[in-house]
Amino acid sequence: MIVIGCSKSKELAKKIAKKLKARYSELIVKKFPDNELKVRYNTNVKNQTIILVQSFYGSINDDLIETIFASYTAKDLGVKKVILVAPYFPYLRQDKRFNPGEAVSIHIIGDLADHFWDEIYIIDPHLHREKTLSHIFKIKAHRLTANPLIVDYIKKKIKNPVIIGPDWESYKWARKVAVKVGCESAIMKKRRYSARKVKVTLNKKIDIRSKNLIFIDDMISTGHTLLEAIKAMKKLGAKKVTCFAVHGILVENALQKLQRAGAKVITTNTIPNKASKIDVSSLITNHLKN
Ligand code: R5P
Repeated sequence: MIVIGCSKSKELAKKIAKKLKARYSELIVKKFPDNELKVRYNTNVKNQTIILVQSFYGSINDDLIETIFASYTAKDLGVKKVILVAPYFPYLRQDKRFNPGEAVSIHIIGDLADHFWDEIYIIDPHLHREKTLSHIFKIKAHRLTANPLIVDYIKKKIKNPVIIGPDWESYKWARKVAVKVGCESAIMKKRRYSARKVKVTLNKKIDIRSKNLIFIDDMISTGHTLLEAIKAMKKLGAKKVTCFAVHGILVENALQKLQRAGAKVITTNTIPNKASKIDVSSLITNHLKN
């Protein structure tokens, strides 16, 4: 077995290889002046099971081409099996045709995956209308959750918490973590007007004044969902606020905006960033060993 560090997840891939006591090798990726990619293995992969570790953020379309080329090439070179470990896997949010003529990306990405990889591991995939990975992929798809890691972090570091989910879909993280931490929780209602405009309200009475308020969501992208949620909860008297997310996509200075709004931000390292304090490598290796 060889663990291959693709361009967006080299550090995580090294940790995974170390924990599995497996060989580590980095995929060599070069970009031509016209933006075409060139991908090369630095090790002999013939007759091996290879684990490509790649998260998708920033230049996600390049990341996809890189991972597809890596898989195609591996098969061409005679590998036994290609497993994709995708700590964050993209294109799952467009899960229906919201407007006439739109591409439903979740199914397109599923078909692509079936074609190129033999197995896939994803941490906290954004599943909303599609309830299970088997509706998206025909290949063996493993759904992992970082919830136990978030629970441990909160239990160790935050006293007297109350947990809020900023929108209905976040209950899978906010409510489930609250049950394990043993604290009260509430889920807010979100109305999305555009990618950067949302309105968030709380319809439940909950005591927050003497508590450490924690928001939990699966991802922070532009941060607008949480910025609105913080504003609403501050009006209700919230003081210390910590925002947790599994995936810190954090585009358009979202981290700085949230910090300026008075919140501390903690994410896992599915996407490495300045707030990624929770390491998911053991979560991945524990599943790979089974
Ligand atoms: C949406 O349903 C997700 O769970 C997040 O709430 C959303 O993607 C966050 O996006 P943003 O940070 O841009 O508001």
